[in-house]
Amino acid sequence: MRPAVTPVWTRLRATAETLRDRHLRELFAADGGRFSSLSTPWQGWLLDYSKQRVDAATMGLLEELWQAADLPGWIARMRAGDAINHTENRAALHIALRHPAGKGPIPYAGHDVMPAVHAELEKMRRFCADVHGRHWRGATGEPITDVVNIGIGGSDLGPRMATQALMAFRHPELRVHYVANLDAADLAVTLATLQPRTTLFVIASKTFTTQETMQNAASARAWLVQALGEAAVARHFVAVSTNLGEVARFGIDPANAFAFWDWVGGRYSLWSAIGLPLALAVGFDNFEKLLAGAHAMDEHFFSAPARQNLPGLLALLEIWNTNFLGADNRALLPYSQSLGLLPRYLQQLEMESNGKPVDRQGQALECAVAPILWGEAGTNGQHAFYQLIHQGHRLIPCEFIACREADFDLPGHQAKLLANCFAQGEALMRGKTRDETTAELIAAGMAAEEAARLAPFRSFPGNQPSTTLLLPRLDPYNLGALLALYEHKVFAESVIWDINPFDQWGVEYGKQLASRLLPIIEGKASATGLDGSTAGLIAWSRSDANRP
Ligand code: F6P
Repeated sequence: MRPAVTPVWTRLRATAETLRDRHLRELFAADGGRFSSLSTPWQGWLLDYSKQRVDAATMGLLEELWQAADLPGWIARMRAGDAINHTENRAALHIALRHPAGKGPIPYAGHDVMPAVHAELEKMRRFCADVHGRHWRGATGEPITDVVNIGIGGSDLGPRMATQALMAFRHPELRVHYVANLDAADLAVTLATLQPRTTLFVIASKTFTTQETMQNAASARAWLVQALGEAAVARHFVAVSTNLGEVARFGIDPANAFAFWDWVGGRYSLWSAIGLPLALAVGFDNFEKLLAGAHAMDEHFFSAPARQNLPGLLALLEIWNTNFLGADNRALLPYSQSLGLLPRYLQQLEMESNGKPVDRQGQALECAVAPILWGEAGTNGQHAFYQLIHQGHRLIPCEFIACREADFDLPGHQAKLLANCFAQGEALMRGKTRDETTAELIAAGMAAEEAARLAPFRSFPGNQPSTTLLLPRLDPYNLGALLALYEHKVFAESVIWDINPFDQWGVEYGKQLASRLLPIIEGKASATGLDGSTAGLIAWSRSDANRP
């Protein structure tokens, strides 16, 4: 569908006009039941969106938009293994990776994918047991103390973020490190702390051709071989990939390779063997709980009506803010140190998925898509960029995530953390008028003239929309559900915007040009035909005359 030409889109535009000048304060004052009507529970969670600039009429229209876009039909197509990634002619079946045994088949290309999924999970379970039980030993017979995952993008961000998120569940005797950047500093600094004899590398790459990962893998291999010899590679390298031929060519024993499939997108692959370093970090039982949480969210997304559907609500609210109120970004603000990497992870999930120029028919989009996602853990962000959110006169929808219970419990921290989180949402919603500021300053003993002079600086417009997602606690189950929530939110948005969220041609273009420039930078090819800037940068970087 072309969303921007549907009747409901036109009506949403009209509603946005009527709401544009209504302050959130007014909306709360006018409706004492606003919190209960604009918040939704799920399994002990609460999604409070009463501080969004919506009313009952808006929500009704957004619900109509959900139906007009045929979300239920698209969910059915995803579950049926249809090639909904139509530019790569692939299914998007990450839901199969957390589908429990005994709950029926998931079809793809005429067969059930579930036996292969569960066989691979079983292989992961055995491997984790071997490493944790010290049965898997390095070439010198010593047990493994450190695991280094080498991968990038979807082969890094998911397990890296989740390993940090689940620090409270980490295995006491195994350290897990992540190396992604092509910059040698990433690998070199990591290796400097490690011993080859007790280090295991997981080379994670869906394609097993990604330049960054292949370079880091080659350097790690050289480091190991220099210390322990060629024969040691088999005991110190395992791989995760869909390309088992390339894995074998790299020299990794196929018995030590974990497979996944082309119907798993890179940024949706945490649930596959790409999660192996996470399973090693927190134990396979916890990895299974993560899968169970994700599956519970799948079931919720598939069946809940729009107004109770958490991923659906997040999608609809973002579409409202982006397409009708004109927001071009969203701040993700987890009040959880353990979720500190969530914004980075979601940047790939959301922006690589929905940052697209054309609709499913290849026509230029008629509406904005994929606002810029940014953010970091509160309370740190409060002492950095929140000033701009409060007084910078930009529309910045904020998404707060907090947990009722702390994952690391030190007396005195958690109540203060929650107080700060809720206070930010309140302050952004309410703001403070000049009159209120002036009165407050005078009440505090300031002279009226000085209070009036300072009031413009110390007043806040408010009306900044926010959502608060309150989880019971951060554990593997709830983390799995949280990540699946965002996967489905992205999918629901893509359906309404009518775009394919499962390809990433922009990233491929950058890779293609980097391969073309490499021989020129190495002095093996001519710069003829390059634009003046790129040729100039290469010449400057190669010239001895410019060295300081
Ligand atoms: O960033 C682009 C991308 O293709 C991602 O989608 C993927 O997660 C990443 O590169 C890594 O690719 P691979 O797992 O094939 O090394």
